[in-house]
Amino acid sequence: MKLANLTMQRITATIGVEVTGLDLAGPLAGADVRLLRDAVAEYHVVAVRDQFLSAEQLATLAESFGELLRSPLQRLTDKPAVSTIEDTPERPPAGFAWHTDISWAAELPSLGFLNAVSIPSFGGDTLWASTAAIYARLSADERMRYDLLSAVHAPDATLLASVARHHGPQVAERLRAAQRPREQPLVRTHRDTGRRSLFLSPLYMERIAGPAGAGGELLGRLNAMLDDPNVQMRWRWRAGDLVIWDETSTCHRALTDHYPQHRVVRRCVVRTGRGVGAQA
Ligand code: SIN
Repeated sequence: MKLANLTMQRITATIGVEVTGLDLAGPLAGADVRLLRDAVAEYHVVAVRDQFLSAEQLATLAESFGELLRSPLQRLTDKPAVSTIEDTPERPPAGFAWHTDISWAAELPSLGFLNAVSIPSFGGDTLWASTAAIYARLSADERMRYDLLSAVHAPDATLLASVARHHGPQVAERLRAAQRPREQPLVRTHRDTGRRSLFLSPLYMERIAGPAGAGGELLGRLNAMLDDPNVQMRWRWRAGDLVIWDETSTCHRALTDHYPQHRVVRRCVVRTGRGVGAQA
């Protein structure tokens, strides 16, 4: 697709599009917000290169799409909504498994934003998988069955260990105590597109609720579907890259193979009351 000096190049057949010809540092025109919202709805992940944004500019950009959401941890530690993830030799990358952000929280994010500040010469890519594509590949019988199920999500031991390392054991304990396991539907419907997706978040999913979850076999089988390269995209970062993703139709994981190189990204999430990314 090409509109004036704007181009959109799909990244894979199932997920991701790269947009060129946008400058996201200043106030965004309504037409640009709509274009990006539509692109996120259609392709789930939108990447724009060469956007060297300050934390304030990233917050302003994200607020064009919805309300900035502070996670329970950010609220506990009194941190702003835009966080900086900095990997160094002394502070190794977290190495979280596939997840959708804070899937155990009462308020779920609609859209995620990452902006690359400093990127190593190799490694540190991020993967996204389309959970809508996974749902679309299920048989009719599987869909009927999974539509009725729910799963239990909670902050897992890896997250709590990372919180303890960076914020102290008391904060980790307060987070664990405050966030009891929460049941979420196994299937979500995107409010704007009507597209259904499996709500997968292996990092935080403890079990499928009820008898269907006995033995953990179903959960293992569902989570394994994220590893199919046909539903994934992999983003090779450059400094200045801005990626927006739909939290309701994707799962993501960042690789750690750049360690001990330096990698810095800023991130935030928003909740959209209506519009693209709204919860079912
Ligand atoms: C995350 O949101 O899990 C971090 C992604 C990244 O650092 O690429």
